Amino acid sequence: MGITKICCIGAGYVGGPTMAIIAQKCPHIQVTVVDLNEERIAAWNDADVNNIPIYEPGLSEIVKEARGRNLFFSTEVDKAIDEAEMIFISVNTPTKTYGKGKGMAADLKYIELCARQIAKVAKSDKIVVEKSTLPVRTAEAIKSILDNTGNGVKFQILSNPEFLAEGTAVQDLLNPDRILIGGDTSDEGEKAIQELVAVYANWVPVNQILTTNVWSSELSKLTANAFLAQRISSINALSELCEKTGADVNEVARAIGMDSRIGPKFLKASVGFGGSCFQKDILNLVYIAKSYGLNEVADYWEQVIIMNDHQKRRFSNNIVKTLYNTVSDKKIAFLGWAFKKDTNDTRESAAIYVADDLISENAKIAVYDPKVSRKKVLADLDYLQSRTADENVNSILSFDNPYEACNKAHAVAILTEWDEFVTYDWQKIYDSMQKPAFVFDGRNILDKTVLEKIGFVYQAIGS
Ligand code: NAD
Ligand code: UDX
Repeated sequence: MGITKICCIGAGYVGGPTMAIIAQKCPHIQVTVVDLNEERIAAWNDADVNNIPIYEPGLSEIVKEARGRNLFFSTEVDKAIDEAEMIFISVNTPTKTYGKGKGMAADLKYIELCARQIAKVAKSDKIVVEKSTLPVRTAEAIKSILDNTGNGVKFQILSNPEFLAEGTAVQDLLNPDRILIGGDTSDEGEKAIQELVAVYANWVPVNQILTTNVWSSELSKLTANAFLAQRISSINALSELCEKTGADVNEVARAIGMDSRIGPKFLKASVGFGGSCFQKDILNLVYIAKSYGLNEVADYWEQVIIMNDHQKRRFSNNIVKTLYNTVSDKKIAFLGWAFKKDTNDTRESAAIYVADDLISENAKIAVYDPKVSRKKVLADLDYLQSRTADENVNSILSFDNPYEACNKAHAVAILTEWDEFVTYDWQKIYDSMQKPAFVFDGRNILDKTVLEKIGFVYQAIGS
């Protein structure tokens, strides 16, 4: 007994790293990750393991170890579904951009397509695992599709949300705080749960593997992200008050974080949270609450997003105001474009929105990010549809060297907390800039005293 063949649909930021770790830790299980995106699969199979499509510290080494042994990347979706005993669905669940729930609800079309494909192909019983983040009660819809369009085989649906954070995906997967598995309370459901527990038990202590009913598991994922994002919006809200009162938000965060009931993590004031999850999942939570008529619940969580939007806008407004109310034709250097350090992911990055505001004021943005290409920066801006693609091309200057990005700039804005920014020769940067030389530190990573001694006008968040 025990699972010997796993298929994962979706070779993205979750499917790729998660399956790489399962393959590494379970050499007796064959893991095949499939995707419709041929370019992405080709990159996962690139002979040079440094070219895999997702940058995560430590990931390429693990892929190198397992790929070709028991880890495979393929576009042959049907074949992998057919062969597997357990199928993870790890496709994207973005915010809907059309129809009912536009701008709030999760778009489940990719999930439904997966369910229909599994139903069509499966000729033996399968355990289907929701790895994607889904609205509570989605398993019901998946089950209905599988049971009504399948070939008479039996399906068990499990919810197994992923809690990894980008940039630390490998460590989070190797040492998770907990693994959450939700399943049906019937005997068959319990059996399916135990099959998945057995997979994780190859490296996770069993007392950290939590089993619940399906709905609790689905809702816990949205709740965890809502709580985490709420902490950031809470500290960011107070950063604005600190700026008015002479309090320092870093000191306030340290002071409250030492209360063991509050704890020190996720209290770093910033230009605003980004990433593919927080905003999408909270909007989804708000939509679900509204759909049950729980308007106060919906309004409560929506405020987390409103505060985050305010924080991003506040940052760009402050740049314009400080630069004598005009940034027209001024070069503003952006250090960082990714939504956090140690990732090449830019989804919902604060940098995109700050740049968009400043370009609307006719600024020229000079971008340096160690892992993000010019193509990606332009695609991110084009997606907002604030102006033509040509106008974006003319407003964005891209550099492979941070010193060149800052050369002759009126201001430097730190948008991502990459470690290397702290170690730069800031005297050299100062010497090459227009005067007065401004630094807007959206991540509070630089030393105010050192920078002011050099001659910079330095502004951080919340002090
Ligand atoms: P992603 O966009 O990086 O990857 C999803 C992949 O699924 C894409 O490559 C896409 O081509 C593929 N796909 C879509 N439909 C398909 C189909 N029918 N058949 C085959 N492939 C298909 O997304 P992601 O960041 O990996 O997120 C996946 C899910 O995990 C989302 O629900 C997200 O909310 C959740 N999640 C993400 C993170 C994160 O840090 N990114 C963390 C936890 C949970
Ligand atoms: C998040 C959750 O942490 C993870 O559990 C879930 O599976 C996916 O969503 P991720 O978005 O990858 O992970 O990164 P995270 O570390 O949570 O950071 C999200 C954003 O919040 C980043 O823009 C980050 O810079 C910002 N942030 C984080 C802050 O501004 N302050 C903090 O104190 C922490």
